[in-house]
Amino acid sequence: MSYKIVFLFSLFDAKSCLSSPFSSIPTTTKLFDPNRFLNLQKVFVQVRVEAAAFNPLDYKISSKNTRQFSGMTRPGEVTKVSAGETKFKVGDRVTFICTSNFSEGVGNGERGAFQQYALADVRITAKIPATADYDSASSFPVAGNTAGGALYGQLKFTDPWFGGESAYKGEKIVILGGSSSVGSYTLQFAVLSGLEVITTSSPAHFDYLKSLGATLVIDRSAPDAAAQILAAAGGPVKYVVDAISLTSTQLLGVEILQPKGKLVLVLPLDPTARTAAEAKGITKLGTYGATGFYFNERFWDALGDYFERGVIKFNKSTVLPGGLHSWEEGFDLHRQGKVSGTKIVMRPQETQ
Ligand SMILES: NC(=O)c1ccc[n+]([C@@H]2O[C@H](COP(=O)([O-])OP(=O)(O)OC[C@H]3O[C@@H](n4cnc5c(N)ncnc54)[C@H](OP(=O)(O)O)[C@@H]3O)[C@@H](O)[C@H]2O)c1
Repeated sequence: MSYKIVFLFSLFDAKSCLSSPFSSIPTTTKLFDPNRFLNLQKVFVQVRVEAAAFNPLDYKISSKNTRQFSGMTRPGEVTKVSAGETKFKVGDRVTFICTSNFSEGVGNGERGAFQQYALADVRITAKIPATADYDSASSFPVAGNTAGGALYGQLKFTDPWFGGESAYKGEKIVILGGSSSVGSYTLQFAVLSGLEVITTSSPAHFDYLKSLGATLVIDRSAPDAAAQILAAAGGPVKYVVDAISLTSTQLLGVEILQPKGKLVLVLPLDPTARTAAEAKGITKLGTYGATGFYFNERFWDALGDYFERGVIKFNKSTVLPGGLHSWEEGFDLHRQGKVSGTKIVMRPQETQ
């Protein structure tokens, strides 16, 4: 097995990299040019990565171009900040997202999660409580950001941090795939907004999803799932977030929506679902791809408070042993559809 590890702490101090306990791990990446850092440091802090979550996107990207995969979601402790940094200080516990679509000049390879130190863009980094475990906190960045994008970016519900907390009492939303990472965060934000949530999952997760605030959970494999949702909702609904976005879930979403309802997808629209959606005049919205990426600094600023208050709880997590050596196993679990109600996580610091 070969893999790439980037020593980002070289950005701040190349000597500390070479004398670190991890310096025996092979690196294929050149040391970061310190002159370049001068232009970047305003936006970044250095973080010691304590846990790195696997997201389905990681294996999807890696199968196309292994050089591009580097993990998108992780928490850790801030180890260096630049002069003038006001949001974070050394020692803060944070969780943050990585994407190379913005943050000028810095690509995934320099920021990815599957390494021991990384750069965090302070605009998409949130503090986590002292009591939170890093493994679970690693589940948030990509999935939680997508959830925020679905509700506040695409459906344009008033943001909770701008007065939208509990503002939608009496309104219903269906979230397909509540036990997925994206689904469980969408569920929690919807509850924070006051929406009544009907969701789908395997029966093993019913109680957990109700504990997060779902009004009703329906067996995702039930042949009459659509009829059950319609009966529970009192008829076709106005909003569906399809946190899975397979052909079958997209079609289910279209079936339960009222004419001119709104369907949010996390993957591209399936051609069959498109035809069905257009026949009902449904507005198709997407949180996928570069254009669908939700970038909202205010959202990330508000998160620390939601985590502290426990209104947004981190997903359950399953840690794979072996540190960075576990990443093929993590990808395989996702490829084979074996992930159920948990976030698969590795701990880069455990790499031997
Ligand atoms: N656009 C974006 O920005 C973005 C961001 C993140 C993820 N995504 C995409 O969103 C999807 C979900 O990602 P994730 O990280 O949330 O995945 P995940 O947590 O790994 O998904 C696993 C869950 O999917 C559920 N599931 C599978 N098939 C289902 C179905 N037909 N109906 C209902 N639930 C079903 C399973 O439910 P049970 O165990 O209950 O059966 C399981 O809990 C992936 O395709 C991913 O690529 C997009």
